[in-house]
Amino acid sequence: MQKWRTVEHSAGHSVGFVPTMGALHQGHAELFSQSVSENERTVVSIFVNSLQFNSVADLEAYPRQLEQDKVIAEQQSVDVLFVPDHEEMYPNGFASTVSAGPIAQHMEGLHRPGHFDGVATVVVKLLNAVMPDVAYFGLKDFQQLAVIRSVVRDLNIKCDVRGVPTVRNGIGLALSSRNSRLSTDRLEQASIIYSLLNEMANQARSNVTSTLTLQNHFNERMKSVSGTKLEYVEVVDSDSLLPATTAQKGTTICVAVWFDDVRLIDNISI
Ligand code: PAF
Repeated sequence: MQKWRTVEHSAGHSVGFVPTMGALHQGHAELFSQSVSENERTVVSIFVNSLQFNSVADLEAYPRQLEQDKVIAEQQSVDVLFVPDHEEMYPNGFASTVSAGPIAQHMEGLHRPGHFDGVATVVVKLLNAVMPDVAYFGLKDFQQLAVIRSVVRDLNIKCDVRGVPTVRNGIGLALSSRNSRLSTDRLEQASIIYSLLNEMANQARSNVTSTLTLQNHFNERMKSVSGTKLEYVEVVDSDSLLPATTAQKGTTICVAVWFDDVRLIDNISI
């Protein structure tokens, strides 16, 4: 990968990069297409990163479909598909990791201990392998994007980080590789997440709303859907990600909900 990058660099080509864990969908395709339109070359990586999973069951259940992914990448005019294996990324004796700091301690970080250190570690490794000019990440993983921005800045990695708007299906559900684990009924019901986010964002746009009021409302409404569990709904400053006591302009509402054993996250910026 580095050899290829060096040749492209000598030829003066800009390189865009989209790291993924595979099970590609339209949300990824949007990232690819933005990279393709902004760079002379686009690299996509597929690596299911064991370091960022909290349970073996979740790691094993993560969808894998390399052959289908190859077709999608090709359709989107991706130039290079980089698919390192586990031993290549984490050989025997691998011991150095990146710690993501305070920005990674609440919301996802609180409920998935170690998750962002795993993400930060693999992203730094991938950026060092690909050495892109620009890297693209989906805004659905709002806290992940903030963590990556801060790691790239703190460790002086020479790469622009760009967030790309969330792609949703016809009923508003944010596209995610995990959606493939939902039944048809569950898929329909899960659109409640974005309806509630919209409802609350609209309310906060017309009247500053306390985080507590918003949390109670979200909680009540989710209780009406059996087999679901609200893990958290938080309001944070959109830049610093510090918790906010009110939802208003410049804040983002972030949520994680379980639908049976599938965990979905989403957010809306006000
Ligand atoms: O968002 C993802 O798919 C992953 O967290 C990432 C950024 C590819 C790191 O494994």
